[in-house]
Amino acid sequence: MNKQKIVVLSGAGISAESGISTFRDSDGLWENYDVQEVASIDGWYKNPDLMTRFYNERRAELEHKQPNEAHRLVAALEEHFKVTVVTQNIDDLHERAGSHHIIHLHGEATKACSENGKRFVQDIGYRPIANDEKAQDGARLRPFIVWFGEAVPLMDEAVREIETADIVIIVGTSLNVYPAAGLLYYAPSDAQIYVIDPKEVQPISRHVHFIKEKATVGMRQLYDQLVK
Ligand code: OAD
Repeated sequence: MNKQKIVVLSGAGISAESGISTFRDSDGLWENYDVQEVASIDGWYKNPDLMTRFYNERRAELEHKQPNEAHRLVAALEEHFKVTVVTQNIDDLHERAGSHHIIHLHGEATKACSENGKRFVQDIGYRPIANDEKAQDGARLRPFIVWFGEAVPLMDEAVREIETADIVIIVGTSLNVYPAAGLLYYAPSDAQIYVIDPKEVQPISRHVHFIKEKATVGMRQLYDQLVK
């Protein structure tokens, strides 16, 4: 029998129990930093050194974080389902937990690219980017992140994935940031949609099963329900 297809749409909340800050919770990153200064393309052209440092810090912090049970359960679903992870997270915790098909809508902390057209993408692991470092084309090396004001190149691929989902699991995202937040509306009308979050998320104008739990607890409940 053909395996059913699950698309997991994850956000910062899935990594919260690994010790990575979310953005919009109290004491989240956007309470301590100005999003325009550290996460917009305008911010980059105003003060690239500041943004380089901000992402160097995120990358250095990531090296010492570990995937949690929620990431591991997402990966374990692959034994029973065809699974695609569409994540807004720039961390590599889904990879380290063992998921195989991951779309990073907002880029990846462990990669860098040329500021000229975001070409010449390279793996840099957890090391810092130096302010005077150049990409292969001689332009400044920048973090491989999708900043506010930039296109989301993997959006079409994410839409294609969700359009053929039987089950959608939305976990740890406040659904504040578009276009990612609109992805769920591309799911087929008969797809089952589950939302795991300890708090209310933005209103969703279609039927969803809401699991008001932290990611580790909610994913365990849902895993047990789906893998009967
Ligand atoms: P947010 O910080 O907006 O939302 C995090 C969500 O996770 C909230 O709904 C929290 O209630 C929930 N949450 C907190 N702890 C949790 C836990 N232990 N388990 C499950 N859920 C938990 O983060 P995102 O929605 O991911 O983009 O933010 C989207 C984008 O905004 C990010 O990718 C980033 C940011 O600006 C860029 O920087 C381009």
